[in-house]
Amino acid sequence: MILAALDKTPEEVSDDDFDEILDELKIVPRLLHPTGKFRNIRRFAFVIHPLSQTYIKKGLPVPAATPKFVMNQVERLAAHLPPFVYCKMDNIISPTGAEAEGWLISIGGTPKEMLARSPEFTYRRLLLAAKMAEKKGAQIMGLGAFTKVVGDAGVTVARRATIPVTTGNSYSASGALWAAADAMRRMGLLEIHKNRKVAAKTMVIGASGSIGSVSARLLAMTFDEVYLAGRTLSKLDELKASILQETPNAKVFTTVDYNELLGDMDMIVTSTSGAGKEILDIMRVKPGCVITDVARPLDLPASDVAKRPDVLVIESGEIELPTKVHGMKSIGLPDNVIYACLAETIVLALEGRFEVFTVGRDTEWEKVKEIYKLGLKHGMKLAAISGVNGVFSDEAIAKVVTLAKKARLTWKGGVHAKAAPAKKASVAKPAAKAVSKTVVKTASVATKAAKPAAKAATKKAPAKKTVVSKPAKAPVAPAAPETASA
Ligand SMILES: NC(=O)c1ccc[n+]([C@@H]2O[C@H](COP(=O)([O-])OP(=O)(O)OC[C@H]3O[C@@H](n4cnc5c(N)ncnc54)[C@H](OP(=O)(O)O)[C@@H]3O)[C@@H](O)[C@H]2O)c1
Repeated sequence: MILAALDKTPEEVSDDDFDEILDELKIVPRLLHPTGKFRNIRRFAFVIHPLSQTYIKKGLPVPAATPKFVMNQVERLAAHLPPFVYCKMDNIISPTGAEAEGWLISIGGTPKEMLARSPEFTYRRLLLAAKMAEKKGAQIMGLGAFTKVVGDAGVTVARRATIPVTTGNSYSASGALWAAADAMRRMGLLEIHKNRKVAAKTMVIGASGSIGSVSARLLAMTFDEVYLAGRTLSKLDELKASILQETPNAKVFTTVDYNELLGDMDMIVTSTSGAGKEILDIMRVKPGCVITDVARPLDLPASDVAKRPDVLVIESGEIELPTKVHGMKSIGLPDNVIYACLAETIVLALEGRFEVFTVGRDTEWEKVKEIYKLGLKHGMKLAAISGVNGVFSDEAIAKVVTLAKKARLTWKGGVHAKAAPAKKASVAKPAAKAVSKTVVKTASVATKAAKPAAKAATKKAPAKKTVVSKPAKAPVAPAAPETASA
């Protein structure tokens, strides 16, 4: 190609000329692993990190009884560790015949340590990880958990790295909404309007974030009312304006006093980077509400979840791989189940899409839709829905429904509410009052549904106003051990 471009014969171009041209074009050799037979293998890397001191204790030879003040020092030191390969995973084979293998590369910082330092501190480690990945032959690198929360959510790292980078947040949003829709369908407490919109109110906490904002965009196309919740009203108002441009008839509200409104919500997606801070008061949540906790660390600790057996708290939407993966060490999920952000990296590799797919905080809903479809093409499935105590069986969900129906008989709209809600929860007075303080009401009901969220939310739902109650297939995966670092 170089000769053709130069329009010269091989004799006219010396080895030094070739070297110079390759150098200028920044063409570098990629490591190939000969297998002896033709296999269409694509390679990826994905960066993980410990979520807390508990994970450090599991990963490093630190005695379990190490006192807190010593662990604080270990946590600080671990943040300075150079990236290292946690494991290599292979035998991921798509129904298309494409095959992927890759490396989980860990950096040492916990969310606390990463947030305490400048983004550059984390960028430097991520760029070292990208170099390491490239040397191993990886053609794309994904960013796990807080590695894409710090700074500008992957933009700088993608610009500086020599291989394409993706945050995986498109598939994370897709997985979260996919799981929420499945859980709500199995709960059977909601109705679908004739126009296929869900007759319910939903809230996204952390709505200005990368996963939160795109989730809110999709939910605005699907639900009667969407509440954008967070801690910076200006960002939420900006998002609301942008959503209304896309979906002019949506009913969108913004709030920073969102605890006041929890008692009125049928579904909540919480996806903040609060890193263990108290984010929402579960005691105010409406009985029968489905909460999808996307955050890692979780926004709702197990102790909070235990207080409300009449509320279904699920842990985002994890993805099951198409074939039995080999070599993968535990990331705190059942066998063959991975986080959606890792799944995005793998799907892009299987598809041969070595490109910067998702970066920044303005995730596009078209990409959510695209990665959802590509995932299906490559045999990815939504893993069994789980919560802090493992997979939810149909019996466990039925129990939540029974408790929710009972609790609704005496439900007053949350512990701090002054008045009982009207028969239909969506017109509860206390919530309406709180809205008027902090939110701005907009246009009427949207008419167009979005895919995949809308499709998932209305999937199998009849067009007429009917209770959604068809039970899903019983989940099979075992409970997740708490050993993860993704
Ligand atoms: N489950 C999965 O597969 C998966 C995949 C990827 C990421 N995650 C997790 O998902 C979460 C969100 O990721 P992201 O990339 O969307 O992060 P992001 O873009 O940084 O967004 C975080 C959001 O949380 C809000 N927030 C932070 N602290 C808060 C607090 N104390 N109270 C209320 N809101 C708060 C931020 O508000 P401001 O804008 O006002 O700061 C922002 O809206 C993280 O916990 C991440 O680890 C999970």
